[in-house]
Amino acid sequence: MEFSKDKKTIFSAVQPSGNLTIGNYLGAIKNWQTLQDGGEFNCLYCVADMHSITVRQDPALLRRRTLETMAVYVASGLDPEKNIMFVQSHVPAHAELAWVLNCYTMFGELSRMTQFKDKSAKNEQNINAGLFTYPALMAADILLYGTDLVPVGIDQKQHVELARDIAVRFNQIYGDTFTVPEPYILQTGKKIYSLAEPEKKMSKSDENVNSFIGILDSRDVIIKKFKRAVTDSDTHVCYAEGKNGINNLMTIYSCFTGKTMEEIEREFDGKGYGEFKLAVGEACADALAPLQKQYNCLMSDRSYLEGILSQNADYAAYLARKMLSKVYRKVGFLAKNK
Ligand code: TRP
Repeated sequence: MEFSKDKKTIFSAVQPSGNLTIGNYLGAIKNWQTLQDGGEFNCLYCVADMHSITVRQDPALLRRRTLETMAVYVASGLDPEKNIMFVQSHVPAHAELAWVLNCYTMFGELSRMTQFKDKSAKNEQNINAGLFTYPALMAADILLYGTDLVPVGIDQKQHVELARDIAVRFNQIYGDTFTVPEPYILQTGKKIYSLAEPEKKMSKSDENVNSFIGILDSRDVIIKKFKRAVTDSDTHVCYAEGKNGINNLMTIYSCFTGKTMEEIEREFDGKGYGEFKLAVGEACADALAPLQKQYNCLMSDRSYLEGILSQNADYAAYLARKMLSKVYRKVGFLAKNK
């Protein structure tokens, strides 16, 4: 784990608020691995537990999922020696900078965030202040480390853009402080849709468990869920407008096997949807098997994982503290005598 001034810095995070799906894996985690292997970036990957409590969580479950998410990162091939991987609440500077940034974020800006509008419509009973100021905490995550690029799905782009605006605003008042980050929408990161409603994004918090494939689902479950996947009344396996279900299954198959759409069409020419769905299920189960094995190994000896988390959090805290001190000085907080 080496943080080099000559390299650009990447920061990303996921919330531990549900079982990770193959959507998270194919859309994000698998690409983080490519970034790591390229070796041209400093990479920080965080489990954003503080963001999760903007909606009610079961405490024991949140704790478990936080560790599980980190185990999935590691089992997917993210090397804790090469990347800084940590839990957000282990690094207090995130909360501290978030407070400061709250004072440089406008009510109007936060009101325009589509995620806030969606989530408050869904959680009418609990439209709390944290849900509203969520993007200021996210901006703190990003700005603490001089992040240049933030690989995220398209749904988080608006939040990264707000982090940019906050950075620019702060820099205008106090002089150069923050690196102005950019969203980094990876070309290879495929959007994976729900198996039950293929117009909707595959989501780990979907109530219908048949709509998503969890990274840790067993082989039988995976094959069964693909069998049930919603398709159309046509019978040809081909990628075409209006065939959302089949297009999605082809995307998944292509991601796991490396085959192109043309190759897949040829492979299943004259064969029915049933055969194709079974092949997708098997390819997915085969690809996830080594990851699951590694995951079980990690979870059976937590001390290794806990050691990584503690070491990485210390290093992240050291980096974050430097930025926070600079910010505290700029806004005029009196330094405490050592
Ligand atoms: N809000 C992001 C999500 O729900 C997770 C997240 C938190 C994040 N902090 C971040 C993503 C910083 C990128 C950078 O997906």
